[in-house]
Amino acid sequence: MLRLRSVAILADKHSQEWLCYGDAAIIPFERMSRHRRKQIFLLGFMGSGKSTVGELLSRKLQWPFIDLDTVIEAGQGVTIREIFERSGEPFFRQIERAALTEVLKTEPAVIALGGGTFAYGANVELIRESGGTTIWLDCSLQTLRKRCATMQNRPLFRDPESFEHLLDLRLPYYRLAEFSVSTEDRDAGEVTEQILRLRAF
Ligand code: S3P
Repeated sequence: MLRLRSVAILADKHSQEWLCYGDAAIIPFERMSRHRRKQIFLLGFMGSGKSTVGELLSRKLQWPFIDLDTVIEAGQGVTIREIFERSGEPFFRQIERAALTEVLKTEPAVIALGGGTFAYGANVELIRESGGTTIWLDCSLQTLRKRCATMQNRPLFRDPESFEHLLDLRLPYYRLAEFSVSTEDRDAGEVTEQILRLRAF
């Protein structure tokens, strides 16, 4: 299997090529399981609306809603910010991966991922192999910044420059989602309606 040291996007799922992250080689989309499970993964940068839209979407579908960050906090008994402060990001990514593995067992479910979940380790592969639907909630940098500026529980929201840099690093991963839906200037109700119209699940 192809292995590269740094992030390299060689193509996207439509052209049957490869994404590599660190030492993890991610298999082409077409080789993934074609079985469609009743799972919807909402992904996107912090502030994109994953939790708000996820909750509403789950009510409309009458499927359980799972917020991965909430699962992690409940499991550790502390906030995400405290996990980052006490144990650092690598530890957070380990428990995020473990929580994701657990969450994948629930079906049906609407699952709001953390902003970094889809961009770390082999999480993309794990999620796509599970056979659910992946939806990127897309939003401009300016709007994301505005939404996050007042929120306290986001350890990776430090300053405008690093925020933008992190978004740039993540975009290639978010683009691997099967669908993208804009949350720019739209409320959760409108976004949810558009997701339901995708008729992908
Ligand atoms: C993170 C985003 C957060 C949370 C953690 C790390 C990230 O989730 O998982 O602070 O790496 O972007 P939200 O996207 O729900 O804020």
